[in-house]
Amino acid sequence: MKFFVDTADTAEIRELAATGLLDGVTTNPSLIARSGRKFIEVVEEICGIVEGPVSAEVVALDHETMMKEAAILRKIADNVCIKVPLTIDGLKTCKALSDDGCMVNVTLCFSANQALLAAKAGASFISPFVGRHDDNGFDGMKLIEDIRLIYDNYAFDTEILVASVRHPIHVLESAKIGADVMTAPPAVIKALFNHVLTDKGIAGFLADWEKTGQSLL
Ligand code: E4P
Repeated sequence: MKFFVDTADTAEIRELAATGLLDGVTTNPSLIARSGRKFIEVVEEICGIVEGPVSAEVVALDHETMMKEAAILRKIADNVCIKVPLTIDGLKTCKALSDDGCMVNVTLCFSANQALLAAKAGASFISPFVGRHDDNGFDGMKLIEDIRLIYDNYAFDTEILVASVRHPIHVLESAKIGADVMTAPPAVIKALFNHVLTDKGIAGFLADWEKTGQSLL
């Protein structure tokens, strides 16, 4: 499973990229607003940090303007992936961009039928929002299972990018279902490295190593 980080904080992206485990980045207008920086400038910097797809979202609601915005965003770097909302105009834009060889991430997916439409529109990625789904009394992981089944039934190439990930269990369940990618905030990715027994084990081994009086270097 590929790991994307969901942030516009370039310091966090650099830190995670240095682990060698980061496959891409997703941003959205809220994350750009939180960064307090200019959209184009942030995307440009992120594209210089990671080689994988960097999602940059259009903000128009109509197809023509989405295409104009996408044209600006595509010029930033080859690894820009245009993010469009799951609407009729968004999917029209997805079809036009993917036919033109551009990566597209269809965002704000909340049903398996929406995911089916995005795949038919040639999306590179579909982003089902599991956290927001759970928040509203639905089962986010069931949505991922349904999309996996449908995409496998028809051998769609669209990758399932689990989004709105809130905690490590979302990551675990996504991996068990066979989602292609997950995008999570930096804190959730960092939490994946931790286990209390790992810390306890290191402390015990180091205490015993001290007793040997030896040094490795
Ligand atoms: C994905 O691309 C979105 O940016 C993101 O996962 C939304 O997550 P949220 O529901 O925590 O805002």
